[in-house]
Amino acid sequence: MEREYLNLIGGKWGPATGGATSPDRNPARRDEVVAVFPSAGKEDAIRAAEAAAQAFPGWARTPMPKRGEILLKAAALLEQRLDVVAEALTREEGKTLGESKGEVARGVSLLRYYAGEALQPTGEVYGSASPSTFLFAERVPLGPVALITPWNFPVAIPTWKVAPALAFGNTVVLKPAELTPLTAWHLADVLDKAGLPPGVLNLVVGRGSQVGPALVESSHIKAISFTGSNAVGSKLAAQCAERGIKFQLEMGGKNPVVVLGDADLDKAVEVTIAGAMLSTGQKCTATSRVIVQRDVLDGFRQRLAARASSLKVGDGMKADTYMGPLVSADAEKTVLDYIEVGKHEGARVLTGGSKLQGGEYDQGYFVAPTVFDGVRPDMRIAQEEIFGPVVAVMEARDFDQAVALANDTRFGLSASVVTRDLGLALRFIREIDAGIVHVNSQTAGAEPQVPFGGFKGSSSGTREQGKAAREFFTQIKTVYLDPP
Ligand code: UN1
Repeated sequence: MEREYLNLIGGKWGPATGGATSPDRNPARRDEVVAVFPSAGKEDAIRAAEAAAQAFPGWARTPMPKRGEILLKAAALLEQRLDVVAEALTREEGKTLGESKGEVARGVSLLRYYAGEALQPTGEVYGSASPSTFLFAERVPLGPVALITPWNFPVAIPTWKVAPALAFGNTVVLKPAELTPLTAWHLADVLDKAGLPPGVLNLVVGRGSQVGPALVESSHIKAISFTGSNAVGSKLAAQCAERGIKFQLEMGGKNPVVVLGDADLDKAVEVTIAGAMLSTGQKCTATSRVIVQRDVLDGFRQRLAARASSLKVGDGMKADTYMGPLVSADAEKTVLDYIEVGKHEGARVLTGGSKLQGGEYDQGYFVAPTVFDGVRPDMRIAQEEIFGPVVAVMEARDFDQAVALANDTRFGLSASVVTRDLGLALRFIREIDAGIVHVNSQTAGAEPQVPFGGFKGSSSGTREQGKAAREFFTQIKTVYLDPP
């Protein structure tokens, strides 16, 4: 029997109100149930928000260095179980074990980084116009916050929201994606074991359609940080604006790699394949367009198609797998639908373009790495986020047209240029509308110490991680202190 897991509310592990549960399945073998989780609803969300509100005054008063120590201890516990959590990640989400290990290690770094941030200054002292006034501005916590996280980075994203929220004195209700609760459970468990007081972190695994709205509506919740789709994000933003609470949204991307005429083509192929196909293309930072200068288009497209068709697709637990399955039947359907859209729009399939079949492929959601050629900017596959192993090759006359094409989308998360020309690299950095720019490296990736987020429709203009997290998870109290 699969192990049955519980939610954490007010320091107690327990089932959903009413006892409903839901299976956590392996997308590489849909018959395999990895674990069973509570299927929480509205009541549980409300209880969790109340517990977070009750715990808030005590946690806000807890000295920051003490909060940091708990994060550090949680980092050590997570590191001890790195292999176990990585295997859970691969089995519930599908990415390869190598990628999962990297992600759990990233979670450990994030916990350590925010343990360090807990020792950093929390404000600024100013010179006052009045000779007797001690004038300072202090960063104080917001209160109980709700963190709503996606399935594609089920360790890294919850950690990069939870760790700063806690370090800066907020209490948390974490609602992880229903598809990947086991990794979030491990995060909650290590923080609980590291000594977080009851109610400081609450874990509610349940139906997004019920838990999400109940959290946004709860008067206890003072801010929402969300990573996920634009459709859900814009609704959330409207609700938060109406309630007058802070919100942070990280949403889609349509990230380009621009390959200039002087590029090392092997390098360009490597950067494109890693960006487009790792994690089966299911990253908001994934490469979904590759814009190639005409002079090198023939050579590039041949090498790209050859490389894409040689990738080993299979169960992420196997050592030689490069690309695992898509996360679910719905995800697979969306990607296959987009592939059909691309074909109807007149784009040419260079490789892939269909579901993989036979043997182990029949047990999971496997789609071939797909490269479309002859993609024009007005096609849907050039504009909409596909979130799968599909990349669109587009032709550009010169540098200016390449940048114009790269910027011609509603998104602006990440972008990359492959070139040996330093002058053009600098122009690209200046002219590209993206929150994250890479020169000669893939569009994905996020180090803990720097801001993460996008321009235009990719985000709400806020940033996560690094020092930027402090902006979001605190508010400023300006103090004029005069002697009595
Ligand atoms: C990465 O590129 O390593 O949901 C991180 C996402 C992003 C995180 C990307 N928020 O894919």
